[in-house]
Amino acid sequence: MPILFDGERRLWALRSGGATYGLAVDGEGRLRHLCFGPPLPRLEDLDRTDEISSPLGRESFFPWESPGGPNERYEYPAWGGMYYHEPCLKATFDDGVRDVRLVYEHHDTRGDEGAPELVVTLRDPHYPLRVHLHFRLFEELDLLERYAVVENVGRAPVTLEQALSAAWHLPRGRDYRLTHLAGRFAAETQIFREAVSLGKKVLESRRGNTSHHANPFFAVDRGTATEEWGEVWFGALGWSGNWKIVLDHDAWGVLQVSGGVNDFDFAWHLEANETFETPSFVGGYTREGFGGASRALHRYARRHVLPSGGHRPVLYNSWEATYFDVDEETQGELAEKAASLGVELFVVDDGWFGERNDDRRGLGDWWVNREKFPRGLEPLIERVHSLGMDFGLWVEPEMVNPDSDLYREHPDWVYHFPNRPRTESRNQLVLNLARREVREHLFAVLDGLLEENEISFIKWDMNRPLSEPGWLEAPKERQREVWVRHARGVYEILKRLREKHPGVAFESCSSGGGRVDLGILRYADQIWTSDNTDPFDRLKIQEGYSMAYPAKAMMCWVADPGFWAKNRTASISYRFHSAMMGSLGIGANLLEWSEEEMEEAGRLVGHYKEIRDVIQEGDQYRLLSPREGETTAVQYVSGNRRASVIFVLRNPHQFLDPTPRVYPRGLKENSLYRVTGVEEPRSGSALMGRGIEVSLEGDLTSAMIELTET
Ligand code: DGJ
Repeated sequence: MPILFDGERRLWALRSGGATYGLAVDGEGRLRHLCFGPPLPRLEDLDRTDEISSPLGRESFFPWESPGGPNERYEYPAWGGMYYHEPCLKATFDDGVRDVRLVYEHHDTRGDEGAPELVVTLRDPHYPLRVHLHFRLFEELDLLERYAVVENVGRAPVTLEQALSAAWHLPRGRDYRLTHLAGRFAAETQIFREAVSLGKKVLESRRGNTSHHANPFFAVDRGTATEEWGEVWFGALGWSGNWKIVLDHDAWGVLQVSGGVNDFDFAWHLEANETFETPSFVGGYTREGFGGASRALHRYARRHVLPSGGHRPVLYNSWEATYFDVDEETQGELAEKAASLGVELFVVDDGWFGERNDDRRGLGDWWVNREKFPRGLEPLIERVHSLGMDFGLWVEPEMVNPDSDLYREHPDWVYHFPNRPRTESRNQLVLNLARREVREHLFAVLDGLLEENEISFIKWDMNRPLSEPGWLEAPKERQREVWVRHARGVYEILKRLREKHPGVAFESCSSGGGRVDLGILRYADQIWTSDNTDPFDRLKIQEGYSMAYPAKAMMCWVADPGFWAKNRTASISYRFHSAMMGSLGIGANLLEWSEEEMEEAGRLVGHYKEIRDVIQEGDQYRLLSPREGETTAVQYVSGNRRASVIFVLRNPHQFLDPTPRVYPRGLKENSLYRVTGVEEPRSGSALMGRGIEVSLEGDLTSAMIELTET
């Protein structure tokens, strides 16, 4: 049984093959954390006294013998009494009391086989407030998905000032090290690694979206883990609005990592019988290093998060080729070219609607621009279909340009405060999705587009963060709910659209990778990783993305050289190999490609389709990191380990350094594999142990090595 309960000791163990998570009710009814780490086969191995009554963690003058001290580890700590770490819950009751206590009430085990769920209900001993803590165990992934539901079971309202998803506790210790993702526009998801010092480290977004600057993912190790070995505790939050992850480390060695909706400028008004459900926070423990952590998260996203199965199609997107200059004729010509390469989905980006000739006007007016498409979109869509491709369209539903019919008609629909400017960014303002009529309007417009046109794909963009988040029409006590209501509004519209148009796929984009998280991946089939399409810059962005998110949902385009990195030109194959590491797309101006380039590209698209199952559904190994050397190598291994693909990219290098040998992983030791460029088949153990010789000459050269079991 993966969820064990010892009734006498009131203790639970959530066990998978590779990890154990333990919790218990203490003598005063509080829910304590026991352990999170290597597998403990016997329940008896869970020693309550060690963890709960350890003399460590006492304040001065705090009685040693009584359980519970300021540094004790609560599963869902509430702010009340002598609790000084980051709380998960902070609330004010109607009478003004701002102190919450939580004690065990009951528990329940449910869920399907392979993913059983423990729900522990806590209550305040005096006030009518309950918290239901959900722990869903993905046994074969060694992952635990957690969220909380806070319920007001009384008659008077309660104000929540902080309601996080979960707190993870690491074994008491020092020398912990944090790995996290940070960046900026066109340089998203860069990997940073640093010592966890005493005090707090806060990773967060206050921008209303996930943000380019930080990503809701963490990994903590003891300072010694490598890509493939060592203990790593990790987690990723499924939320696309303001979020925070706090590492709270004290001199007793307590390290708590809590996360959820950001409490900054947050307050949630909970009326009688209302509940607040937090986003989920998935976490895990592995002894297989950072790669092991990533592979578990990838499988989790593919199996339990993504809204659709099957392959992601090879797409063409015309943004970088034509920018706002879209019209029926040119898009049609591009479509012909794309189809000749074997592209499966043709996407028209920004510029097809309203008066959208540049980024100063038109957002909000989602009718087809008749100058560019005099006969509407239908003739182009038909042409695309006759070429054997699906058709996709770009939208940016959450936004308006002040120069638009929608804004002229509804200037009050944007977030704003009176007596304050409405700050524009990229000449646009943000629609208030907390307002029902705005959500209804957006659903109707998008639904109409999908009803009237045969569209199979929507790229949903968001090109600015929120500012002046005023919603003064709402009752005062609800106005700070906007941050949560905005993200929920996006989810709600996407959910309704998916239900009504199940054949339509969605791509999440926010000026590139500003909305990359497990929350949006419940509604979007893929993500636009970054606007930076330079194939070399991309390697670091893609590596960081791969820490938490699967290749299948990582859109990568083969683009024209020269825009992001001036004067850097890379061969077609280097550009393709860089982009083939995720879901392949093409964003170049194919009208300017030579016949030879088209031929080579066509061959590579064909090849990608043959191996995409391994890339999109397989396990990923980061063999050589672009952060650490002049050669990057990334490997994908099919679920049955019979097929594998390795991309090797030789980046700018010096001193005649030879290409390092590449050591594959994840193969079957005793099987024989045929290897590209190697005459005789080799055993898996020989390949993994002795490596593969790759010889690449010159900067920005690359190779793709296939391994197939004979
Ligand atoms: C930002 C996106 O990241 C680009 O791919 C493109 O869609 C532009 N917006 C269009 O305005």
